[in-house]
Amino acid sequence: MISLVKASAPAKTILVGEHFVVAGCPAIAAAIDVRATVEAERLSASGIIEVDSRELGRQVFEAGKAASGPLYPVYVAASEVLKLAGCDIGLRLRVESGIPPSSGMGSSAAVAVATVTAVAALLGISLPPGEISRVAYAAETLVHGRPSGIDNTVSTYGGVIYYKRGEGFTKLKADLSPVRIILADSGIQRSTGELVSKVLALKARHASILDHVYEAAANLAEAAKVAIERGDYPTLGELMNINHGLLSAIGVSNAKLEELVYAARQAGALGAKITGAGGGGMVLALAWSEDAGKVAQALSRLSERVIVATISQEGARLEA
Ligand code: PMV
Repeated sequence: MISLVKASAPAKTILVGEHFVVAGCPAIAAAIDVRATVEAERLSASGIIEVDSRELGRQVFEAGKAASGPLYPVYVAASEVLKLAGCDIGLRLRVESGIPPSSGMGSSAAVAVATVTAVAALLGISLPPGEISRVAYAAETLVHGRPSGIDNTVSTYGGVIYYKRGEGFTKLKADLSPVRIILADSGIQRSTGELVSKVLALKARHASILDHVYEAAANLAEAAKVAIERGDYPTLGELMNINHGLLSAIGVSNAKLEELVYAARQAGALGAKITGAGGGGMVLALAWSEDAGKVAQALSRLSERVIVATISQEGARLEA
């Protein structure tokens, strides 16, 4: 009987289509080489799940008792797997995430995906990726209300993913080795759920205007897919810049995000935009690998956290 298992899952960045994806437009996201790790261990007491997180502290959950708190989704993800396996053993889960929370990098989804992967392996049940993603989504709904599902999908499968709500996803054949993704933190915390509601309310108030913006975003995502598959990164950068303008139009930009976006472009990025819900969190710049240092340096003058990332083809995995 295995008593301890470790699993990890990658962060995601949305290259194009955030927010618009909530209303059914396509979006493209990439897994990057920044991961969340969850270690799952059996406990002798049944019905107890202890969750320990370096970033969020420690919480103990008891089966059947109402609970809440920042680690509650981790508990929900783990107890869903226990249910699937038909057992009620106790668990200790240690969460270590290199992914900044509430920043647009999908940290909660990566933790949920890593939790499901680790607990399933600990219990000796084999969950197909689709099941891992589905269970992680259920935990995500506690954090984000009704998320599009793009975060858990990218975190489970890795690579570059073209995603359409309700229609599933395609993993794009893409060689992103000539480029780097540079992320810069605005330092402004925000809630994805609140921003999604705000955008949907604006869309409802100005439907005849914003319907066109949504149509443009859908066309943009299709063009970005073609650019990625051709390895045409100057065009992808240009489309990312346009996508940023559309995100400003739906009200999720602010002065700090604009400052970061323009600094990245001026330093030689192929394109730069908000990534994720906006309102704060991260901006994302795309640059040729030889220009990534220059772009990161310019962003470091304005941001306390700059990450230069490569695409991770690997999604959820067990760690040795
Ligand atoms: O900022 P994040 O990582 O929570 O991403 C949110 C992406 C949205 O499109 C705004 C919402 C969603 O559910 O897809």
